[in-house]
Amino acid sequence: MRVGVLTGGGDCPGLNAVIRAIVRKGEREYGDELVGFRDGWRGVIEGRTSPLDVERCRGILPRGGTILGSSRTNPYRIEGDVRRALDTLADMKMDALIAIGGEDTLGVAHRLGQDGASVVGVPKTIDNDLSATELTFGFHTAVQICVDAIDRLHTTAESHDRVMVCEVMGRHAGWIATYAGLAGGAAEILIPEQPFDIAEVTDRIRRRHERGRYASIVVVAEGATPKEGTLALASGERDQFGHVRLGGIGAVVATEIERRTGYETRVTILGHIQRGGTPTAFDRVLATRFGIAAIEAVHDGAFGHMVALQGGHVVRVPLEAAVAELKTVDPGDFARVAGPFFG
Ligand code: F6P
Repeated sequence: MRVGVLTGGGDCPGLNAVIRAIVRKGEREYGDELVGFRDGWRGVIEGRTSPLDVERCRGILPRGGTILGSSRTNPYRIEGDVRRALDTLADMKMDALIAIGGEDTLGVAHRLGQDGASVVGVPKTIDNDLSATELTFGFHTAVQICVDAIDRLHTTAESHDRVMVCEVMGRHAGWIATYAGLAGGAAEILIPEQPFDIAEVTDRIRRRHERGRYASIVVVAEGATPKEGTLALASGERDQFGHVRLGGIGAVVATEIERRTGYETRVTILGHIQRGGTPTAFDRVLATRFGIAAIEAVHDGAFGHMVALQGGHVVRVPLEAAVAELKTVDPGDFARVAGPFFG
């Protein structure tokens, strides 16, 4: 078969491991010809490709990023782009396409499947917010990067008796903040699923310091939301899928903590450091399992499906189910596990 592969949306550690697994099994076991589309859906629209074979994939397993490039291009935004994308697949005689991406990329994969393309999806995102899969690769690595940073923030916070606000990614889901905050021993974790009242947060921090605690780490998810009317936030630009560009809430929270408590407060925004560099061993293995399962799905003709992790097993789920709604942190569960460590 001729099988196209693309990586779309924000990159994350483990993408190259998926590509390598698809190519290895596709070429060696099925005798496939693999073709890489450059820069996500943009490469399909414009017909820009790179050859993919086992030789070209040597050494990429531990490399972050994606050898194919990525973009947040949405073919359903500009008239004619869907037609161009379908024509590219037909002109290049592609039997199948494997789309590795998050909610947006897989949403396009689902629609393009309905419009006639033979697509299989692979879930990726550091945000871990995709339904139908218990985990996405990239998440584990991002959390570990955050925890390493928080461990370092702890020691300097203690030296100076400071509050350290650490802003992490995750878009509208608090998975990274919750895992990193719990693993890093944060005094406060602010997530989108549980709107916060800054007055309550600062009261708890004050009580903690009055009991003689030196230093508090406050982990803030970039999408954390204040309770209505409690704290004003500026809103950012939007991308091609209509998502607001998040980031900056950490500085607002830090300013407010210092103003209300008088404790010296600093902010660290981890930003794209969370997406860069080598994947953890866990993510390399999960990405490899997903890549193998994706090329198997292609050969079984399981188009319109995504590979997913459920109960520790890699299974296939309809793409529709994967993109129907975001997987978010259950506020009840969060309060039960994280609550006892606050205040
Ligand atoms: O979806 C992954 C993610 O890293 C989000 O956590 C974050 O909000 C967004 O992408 C940042 O996107 P960009 O790389 O376009 O700034």
